[in-house]
Amino acid sequence: MNKKELFLNTLSGAVYNKKPVWFMRQAGRFLKSYRKLREQYDFLTMCTTPELASKVTIMPLHEIDVDAMILFSDILIPLLALGAKLTYKDGVSPFVENLDLDNLSYDSDNIESVMFVADTIEIIKNNIKDAPLIGFSAAPFTLGCYLFGAGGDFYKIRSFIYKNPLKYTAIMNVLTDLTIDYLNLQIAAGVDAVQVFDSWGGIVPKSVYKDFIFPFNQNIAKSLNIPSIYYIKNSAYIKNEITNLDFDCLSVDWREDIREIHKASSKCVQGNLDNTLLLSSQDALLKAAEQLLASTKDIPHIFNLGHGVLPQTSEDMVKILVETIHG
Ligand code: CP3
Repeated sequence: MNKKELFLNTLSGAVYNKKPVWFMRQAGRFLKSYRKLREQYDFLTMCTTPELASKVTIMPLHEIDVDAMILFSDILIPLLALGAKLTYKDGVSPFVENLDLDNLSYDSDNIESVMFVADTIEIIKNNIKDAPLIGFSAAPFTLGCYLFGAGGDFYKIRSFIYKNPLKYTAIMNVLTDLTIDYLNLQIAAGVDAVQVFDSWGGIVPKSVYKDFIFPFNQNIAKSLNIPSIYYIKNSAYIKNEITNLDFDCLSVDWREDIREIHKASSKCVQGNLDNTLLLSSQDALLKAAEQLLASTKDIPHIFNLGHGVLPQTSEDMVKILVETIHG
């Protein structure tokens, strides 16, 4: 069985002795070869240049032997199709300018402006045939967090939901249409699965998640015709809601009991090793990894972290972890 079969079969519910493994943020700063390339180009140039983005996407496959690639890009990239100006500065949240939130609209012809993503996917697919490529987008609320402006636990979008729920809903509808087109562009170009990142979906009261986050996520899930993964951080209090989403796999953070998520949803699960273990000792890391493997032995499970690889992580620790999972 090659990596693509191992990953896709697990995603659709198969259970093997060997678990597929990949890491969120694997195509990024913890890799020396990424940092070296990044010295020559700014982040946005790397995302928008297919030759560079495809190269970075493939890096972790060769360097740490993961079982899946994730497209090198960023969750804010589809906002370019709305005419946004994006700014990335070291060590701070990226920011979005040039959009009029009072009159946000989206014309689906404008998805053409992010065609570089399709070109990136085509280069990857032409070069790698036996490992799966995961495409991705943000969930509309998480995208909205940056659109309204980061800082203070995203107080801007959270207060706006209460202040003007109708306008919030109109903005989310625009972001949902954009996200569906953006994911379809990636699917048409050949990604094998998609992951929707709702990193900040767990920062609102349960009733707000139900009424103002869940419905847009569900529209996206229902629109997808290839295997899909939903990632959320801090989900314990909304377990019933997330298990009702029509994604094929749920990816949760280190606080969750991943077996419980499988039990509640009957779906494949992904995660959820604490990413800070990679900054600790080899003993602690491998012990926790073995525990996670033991607890997911008999359920469909894609090995991953609870959130992204931290930039200060050593490549050697990641390599040892992958070897252990494969062993
Ligand atoms: O996972 C991968 O390896 C694929 C590429 C990827 C990036 N961002 C590259 C990136 C993916 C899937 C993302 C998703 C993303 N981006 C999320 C959802 C996942 C999560 O971590 O919660 C979010 C919330 C963002 C927004 C974002 N992008 C932030 C807050 C930042 C700045 C903080 C940081 O990590 O630097 C970014 C920049 C970013 N995205 C970098 C990379 C490699 C760093 C850019 C650089 O090289 O300086």
